[in-house]
Amino acid sequence: MVRVIVGTQFGDEGKGRAVEFLAPHTQVIARYQGGANAGHTIHINREPFVFHLVPSGIIYPHTLCIIGNGVALDPEELIKEIKVLKQKGINIENRLFLSLYAHIVMPYHKSKDDLNNSIGTTHRGIGPCYEDKCTRIGIRLMDLLSPEILEEKLKHNLSIFNSFNLEFKSIYEQYLSFGKFLSPFVTDTAVLLNQWIDEGKEVLLEGAQGLLLDIDHGTYPFVTSSNPHSGGACCGLGISPTRIDEVIGVTKAYTTRVGKGPLPTRLSPEIEKKVREFGKEYGATTGRPRRCGWLDIPLLHRAMMVNDIKQILLTKLDVLDKLPEIKICKEYKDMDAQWYNSANLETLEPIYETLPGWMTPTQNIRKYKDLPTNAKRYIERISELLGVKMMAIFIGPQKEDSIEL
Ligand code: IMP
Repeated sequence: MVRVIVGTQFGDEGKGRAVEFLAPHTQVIARYQGGANAGHTIHINREPFVFHLVPSGIIYPHTLCIIGNGVALDPEELIKEIKVLKQKGINIENRLFLSLYAHIVMPYHKSKDDLNNSIGTTHRGIGPCYEDKCTRIGIRLMDLLSPEILEEKLKHNLSIFNSFNLEFKSIYEQYLSFGKFLSPFVTDTAVLLNQWIDEGKEVLLEGAQGLLLDIDHGTYPFVTSSNPHSGGACCGLGISPTRIDEVIGVTKAYTTRVGKGPLPTRLSPEIEKKVREFGKEYGATTGRPRRCGWLDIPLLHRAMMVNDIKQILLTKLDVLDKLPEIKICKEYKDMDAQWYNSANLETLEPIYETLPGWMTPTQNIRKYKDLPTNAKRYIERISELLGVKMMAIFIGPQKEDSIEL
């Protein structure tokens, strides 16, 4: 079985948690796009760690993890994560595989990202790295293993980006040493993945960010520079669409957004403050406070449609435990939900349905039937409005804080 996990909102839906939840039943976990702009919190012996590149399933010793060709790979960041895993006693030998075709985030990408940042990026150099990929001057992981090729490409690229005053020798030596460190993990991951699928392994393909940040399907131009869309999994890993059996959505019980761009269902400042505090809604990568909004059904519909999502994992329901009433944006006034853009999303008027809150802690609940009636009502209404099934509900940050359905 091959499944893709997709964020259905503006990222930060809790995909890392979702992968952790599904990992016990999964043998292979493969990341297909984005880079160190994403961040997921993994608990190792209940201690939280923020990882940006390594798939969260790595903490399960039985899993094989891939970072695919579609990922913008920052070797410095990845090496940091590998060192933390080693320190924590997690064996990654013959378990972590990096595509030799992955494009490398270089220092000039970060400088460029800092310089031109009108949409509020994460400053991780991701857009400029994909830009080089498209203009055919990108440096790939395989190039870090070939001193002559790296020299030639780096000299050429520095001649283009020389306004950043970056010095060839130190970058060259540093990136060669990154290549040396990473070389035991580098391989043609497309071959491995296709082979593992042929063998009938249980496979999970993990996207970063969310559909509404997709370069094609998101709120352009306030988007990331790759395709979190489930289709990104095929190109970003080297498999055919015919290999995918199912797409699972990850949806937060409310909406959040970090960086610029429209958020039509934004909460009043007073409620936003509460939700941000209960939900610890600060960017895992940048620490920026996230804007918070009510659940947005028209935008979610779009995510479900373009990904053909039939099942979702609903995350962070417990964050709403203390709200006396909860709204759901059912539709927008004067708008056909099939057509939207960033400009009209700013001006659209959401039409809300108001449901009573449950005002009861849910974190220790483990069975659906034990949830407060109004929480079940909220969940069932979401399911009904979106026409999807709930696969699980998450009611806290730890692995065990979940209700499987
Ligand atoms: P970039 O991906 O760093 O180029 O940033 C583009 C937009 O995507 C900005 O609004 C970022 O805040 C947002 N973004 C990128 N990665 C994430 C993520 O993992 N979660 C939430 N927002 C993200």
